[in-house]
Amino acid sequence: MSFAATILTLYPEMFPGPLGTSLAGRALAEGKWVCDPIQIRDFATDKHRSVDDTPAGGGAGMVMRADVLARAVDHALEKRPDAPLLAMTPRGRPLTQARVRELAAGPGVTILCGRFEGIDERLFEARPIEPVSIGDYILSGGEMAALVTLDACIRLLPGVMGAASSGDEESFESGLLEYPHYTRPPEWEGRTIPEVLRSGDHAKIEAWRKTMAENDTRLRRPDLWERHEGARDQSPSGARRQKKER
Ligand code: ADE
Repeated sequence: MSFAATILTLYPEMFPGPLGTSLAGRALAEGKWVCDPIQIRDFATDKHRSVDDTPAGGGAGMVMRADVLARAVDHALEKRPDAPLLAMTPRGRPLTQARVRELAAGPGVTILCGRFEGIDERLFEARPIEPVSIGDYILSGGEMAALVTLDACIRLLPGVMGAASSGDEESFESGLLEYPHYTRPPEWEGRTIPEVLRSGDHAKIEAWRKTMAENDTRLRRPDLWERHEGARDQSPSGARRQKKER
């Protein structure tokens, strides 16, 4: 069964977009996933096909109407009743690799793409919608965020990436950033590849990679590092660790 990506958007022409090329594009052609963009405007009822209105309480911009969006959402829910329903918005919970894995293991995902200043909050109360953000910055709409979310899911579908995506060593799978990579030439602009990687000693290489992953995570992502250390402290073996060890 194909992974069904249903996208509710004012810009259906943005899909599959970049997901029509490379690995995701091949998987699409092979039927491993299907891309079903739906024009939200088709669910408007007035002659101008309007989907937005001015914000209650005043202020800049426009707000997406709950009644129009609910009709679009209900249509998608009827079409794909088993697919989780996400709304891309900077007000959502941050997307994680763990959530991506769950989504990729399911029948598909329906994604509502926000535009303008936002979506009438009553829609979130009235429908089972999971608000999702892809980071603490503002995009011009949810479409790019939907493409990012779909890309992260599609590469995990069976047969899409082969061995590469099953790796437990990828960034975030262990709660750490991945170790750094090197390839030929062995010397470039006077810089060499770390000696240990050319030693052929697999135990030493593994230990070096673990150290590098830990150091880079601590320096670049103190938030991840703290969570990683917290989880270690709570594990049966970690509980016995002494504080001064750190
Ligand atoms: N729409 C605008 N900005 C966004 C973000 N950071 N994540 C998800 N959807 C968005």
